Amino acid sequence: MDKIIVVDFGSQYNQLIARRVRELGVFSEIVPFNIEIQKLDDPSIKGIILSGGPNSVYDENAPYIEKALYELNKPVLGICYGMQITQYLFGGKVSPSDKREYGKSELTIIEDSVLTKDVPKTSTVWMSHGDHVDELSTDFKLLATTESCMAIAKHKTKDIYNLQFHPEVTHTTFGETIIKNFVMDVVQANQSWDLEDYIDKSIQNIKNIVQDDEVILALSGGVDSSVAAMLIHKAIGDKLTCVFVDTGLLRKDEGDKVMELYKDNYNMNVVRVNAGVNFLTSLKGEKDPEAKRKIIGAEFIKVFEAFKDEHKDAKFLAQGTIYPDVIESVSINGPSETIKSHHNVGGLPAELDFELLEPLRELFKDEVRKVGLALGIPKNMIMRHPFPGPGLGIRILGEINEEKVKILQEADDIFIKELIQDNLYDQVSQAFVVLLPVKSVGVMGDKRTYEYVAAVRSANTVDFMTATFSRLPFEFLDKVASKIINQVRGINRVVYDITSKPPGTIEWE
Ligand code: XMP
Repeated sequence: MDKIIVVDFGSQYNQLIARRVRELGVFSEIVPFNIEIQKLDDPSIKGIILSGGPNSVYDENAPYIEKALYELNKPVLGICYGMQITQYLFGGKVSPSDKREYGKSELTIIEDSVLTKDVPKTSTVWMSHGDHVDELSTDFKLLATTESCMAIAKHKTKDIYNLQFHPEVTHTTFGETIIKNFVMDVVQANQSWDLEDYIDKSIQNIKNIVQDDEVILALSGGVDSSVAAMLIHKAIGDKLTCVFVDTGLLRKDEGDKVMELYKDNYNMNVVRVNAGVNFLTSLKGEKDPEAKRKIIGAEFIKVFEAFKDEHKDAKFLAQGTIYPDVIESVSINGPSETIKSHHNVGGLPAELDFELLEPLRELFKDEVRKVGLALGIPKNMIMRHPFPGPGLGIRILGEINEEKVKILQEADDIFIKELIQDNLYDQVSQAFVVLLPVKSVGVMGDKRTYEYVAAVRSANTVDFMTATFSRLPFEFLDKVASKIINQVRGINRVVYDITSKPPGTIEWE
């Protein structure tokens, strides 16, 4: 299968670049900048994209690549930092600016090329750079400019292209066309990345690996573990056993819905462990968010170990690891600025003696969703907002007890149902209610009340690393607040969280 490699110089956009390439039907992988060049000398690698990055080529620890990369004779597209490093290595002059250019600029093409086929003479591009190229290497010629910088350049004899702007972000109007031109016309890659194909191959692969052994999987009901379970179930049927841990901190009716779908409807072996009492007992009196996370994590492992003891023959542990989890761990050794924001409670200790089975390791989240839909998982389960491992445990601020869990489940259920009913659910990335450890005075009928405050939270985000609060209509918020206060005993005041991330986080704990 033809591949295009994205070399990671720490850009927050590198996953976006790889996804854009995959959307064209060509497989793409991200590798750290310090990869050995020989590893790229592989005939399946048809083209190389150098990503942007936060550094200046003059920084003491600036990420470098060896010039040998360009001698592999594969087409190269250098984006932003990828342009500056290319120019620097070919003898051009890169200058630091005291001001970062950030935002939209007008691109003017001065000489046509394969890369800008179907791109008009002038168009809008998105810039985000500190340094810029002052003098082009003599091996290159200039193809386009913006008012303030050299915007597109090409090597005079080789297929090496440089862009100062970011074609992968949607603000660059013809960005998709430029990436398409690179992939289809410069590289001429085969469009052999196809998810239907991937499913068939993956099922075959799982059969070959597992043979007659048994597999166990911790099913959370979230997208990744559910899709992994469906795929493995298709391959090996009853040799897969899933454990669904009901922590007592799930959303309203969540446990029943998961069991109904996967056990009753799809006939999977799913064992539900009702461990709510244990979780709540261990959490009793604990107020600190990190301590609560640790307690929940430890309880989860206890359940899992007991389950493992009953399934001694299981050789494999299946996990819903997806591609961004894999890249993040590579990038931490490399230069990526990505901050790992998931503190996964489902993380199991390494000493559990298993071989890992991770059928989604190569897929991006949107691809996992497509696989899930193709396998027949209903859309409402696949398009669900993410739900954190510690569940309502970190949405009940401070101390947790059964009464608070019930109150929060009811309030959250009202909010989510209203979002779905008003067609707003798919327009926001994550929405939920938080129960505050604060009581306030209210009046209902002619009686004074003294009850909990609930915060309604809804965030819009692409990557969950930065987010803004959702601009939900006031009329809608009004309706939700009234319903919660009228229907949920224990809440008499609702507030809406208007904090963005940063400086806030999406969750409250
Ligand atoms: P924050 O609150 O850090 O959340 O802005 C970013 C994303 O991560 C999720 N999150 C968690 N997921 N275990 C998880 O599995 C956790 O402890 C945890 N804390 C936050 C959060 O729901 C959001 O999607």
